[in-house]
Amino acid sequence: MRDLQPQAGQAQVLELARVAARDLLAPSATENDRAERFPEEAMRHLARSGLFGINVPKAYGGLEAGVVAYALAVRELASACAGTTVGLMVTNMVAEAIARFGDEAQRQRWLPGLLSGAHAAASFCLSEPGSGSDAASLRATARRDGDHYVLDGTKAWITSGGRAGLYLVMARTSPDGGSRGISAFIVEAGTPGLVATKPEDKLGMRASVTTQIVLDGCRVPSANLLGAEGDGFKVAMGSLDGGRIGVAAQACGIAAAAQRCALDFARGGRADGTALSEQQSTQWLVADNAAELDAGWLLVLRAAALKDKGAPHSREAAMAKVFCTEMASEVASRALQVLGEAGEDSRHSAERNLRDARVTRIYEGTSEVQRIVIARECLKALS
Ligand code: CAA
Repeated sequence: MRDLQPQAGQAQVLELARVAARDLLAPSATENDRAERFPEEAMRHLARSGLFGINVPKAYGGLEAGVVAYALAVRELASACAGTTVGLMVTNMVAEAIARFGDEAQRQRWLPGLLSGAHAAASFCLSEPGSGSDAASLRATARRDGDHYVLDGTKAWITSGGRAGLYLVMARTSPDGGSRGISAFIVEAGTPGLVATKPEDKLGMRASVTTQIVLDGCRVPSANLLGAEGDGFKVAMGSLDGGRIGVAAQACGIAAAAQRCALDFARGGRADGTALSEQQSTQWLVADNAAELDAGWLLVLRAAALKDKGAPHSREAAMAKVFCTEMASEVASRALQVLGEAGEDSRHSAERNLRDARVTRIYEGTSEVQRIVIARECLKALS
């Protein structure tokens, strides 16, 4: 896409991401996907480039470059390896949550280490085996015990589980408070009582490790409570509004990679001397891809620009997420159609792009959850 010219700070972040995507992520993307290998060293490199805290103030080690810059970087990185990128995205989401909801002591305590690469990642622990879309029904508990809380329960589908240095955990501090009975805690890796289970064997995002996190009498100091007691649902939802812009940008990166793969293949010569690109049926597929990709990216830019301005953006983030993630599945599927049988071959990225795209429609809120958010906002605007 011919992009609107990024501002100087955004262009610098984009350049960092371009170099990392080309030199660090692309060369091992196929192999990491096949072997389900978490690229620990690449993650530390990304952190040292500043890309773990793109929208975090410089005072704490972030780049303070804003959300449009974040979206540009995520799209670029995801076009090389979406699996590695999801680990980076969740880390940025947790870092932003600490910067936004934490007090000064908490920011000073956790952000510089996380953003310098001392930890390979951070994890966001909201979902549970029995609670996904209905996040307010979560059952993990945090019981006050003197100047500590004791956490018990199981968290599911945790990106970077077992590899992260910090876990943002949502747990219930009041048994019957509904969404207002939930609080947010930072739990450091190595805290007794926090255990990651065996990694899940996934369809897509296989360069990202996903586990359950079991909390069994896990004692954390009350100084690890992020925000006030009972504010955990708002911490989670506020963080996910930004996270969803990231997933939408990630989906655009995946779709762009699939489209590039289709175009490269279509331009190649065939035995009879013609190219697939000369066929109208191929042209229609790549034209639809191009138009939908640009439409999705414009939704991402709008949501990101609103968040950069400090304006409400839940609805726009949800629109960008549902459109871009469904678009990416469609674009990758059309790309595979252009490749024909060759599309099944993992030497072309299209099959990985299709598997990765499918997952984006589920995490950080399914397409159905995004539609709930959009519909509620539309109805609120009418009343
Ligand atoms: N920002 C701040 N506060 C918000 C908010 C937002 N975006 N959305 C809701 N709230 C507040 C509301 O104002 C309300 O506050 P009050 O009690 O003071 O009135 C409170 O939260 C409850 O709001 P709702 O009644 O709207 O909540 P709900 O129970 O109806 O939930 C939902 C609505 C949108 C479906 C929500 O449950 C949801 O988003 N579910 C999906 C969860 C999700 O995205 N999980 C992803 C897991 S994380 C992940 O995937 C990370 C990874 O590792 C990849």
